[in-house]
Amino acid sequence: MIATAATMESASTRVEVTLPGGDRVSLVPVTQASTAAMAQFLDRLSPESRRLRFFQALPVVPPAMVRQLCDVDHHEHVAWLAMSADGPVAEGRYVRSRSAPWQAEVAVAVRDDWRRRGLARLMVETIGVVADARSVTTFTCDVLGENRASQRLFGGLGVTFRFEDGMLAGAGPVPAWSGSPAVADEIRRVQAAFGPAVALEAVA
Ligand SMILES: CC(C)(COP(=O)(O)OP(=O)(O)OC[C@H]1O[C@@H](n2cnc3c(N)ncnc32)[C@H](O)[C@@H]1OP(=O)(O)O)[C@@H](O)C(=O)NCCC(=O)NCCS
Repeated sequence: MIATAATMESASTRVEVTLPGGDRVSLVPVTQASTAAMAQFLDRLSPESRRLRFFQALPVVPPAMVRQLCDVDHHEHVAWLAMSADGPVAEGRYVRSRSAPWQAEVAVAVRDDWRRRGLARLMVETIGVVADARSVTTFTCDVLGENRASQRLFGGLGVTFRFEDGMLAGAGPVPAWSGSPAVADEIRRVQAAFGPAVALEAVA
């Protein structure tokens, strides 16, 4: 169980979640209007976390990269942020494979001062709810060999890894939502506001 409460504001585009330790966050889909929040999130990630997330040293995240990370279409490319009272604290996204459209590559990052509260798991499960509604059945992920936290995180979500080109390449079924069904319904409702779910044959 990762989520215990959700507000049910039908016009809202955010989903309120209480983490197992009691911290509250709002889950919001990334849009092209999210560049300020995304820039703030990346700016407040430690350089080591940015390296683990993007596989390169990024002392400063270029504005073009921030724009690219917000350039989602809500079907092939889906991203959500978790917002706290102190700004954005986590990001989760998937990008669907063009050659294998039932598959999508997942990525996640959590602000350093918000670790080990279940946020990464929440973000992967959140985009998993969206993926499931969009006929994605398999998540893949690339993880650096030294990134034990990610290996444990994804391993705990059913991903298995193999070494490939010096990286760990993972794949596993889209994880099932482990929180309250009402929260999953809210995630689907909010995401649907950005476009209906589509069957796989429609995107293949
Ligand atoms: C990996 C990362 C996303 C985990 O975020 P998090 O919010 O702390 O993770 P969670 O609290 O949801 O933890 C879920 C599980 O992951 C594993 N895990 C997380 N951090 C861990 C750590 N430092 N060491 C070992 N296991 C860890 C545990 O199995 C944990 O479950 P548990 O707390 O019940 O033991 C975070 O460390 C991060 O942002 N790292 C930098 C970016 C990155 O590496 N992204 C992944 C590549 S796409």
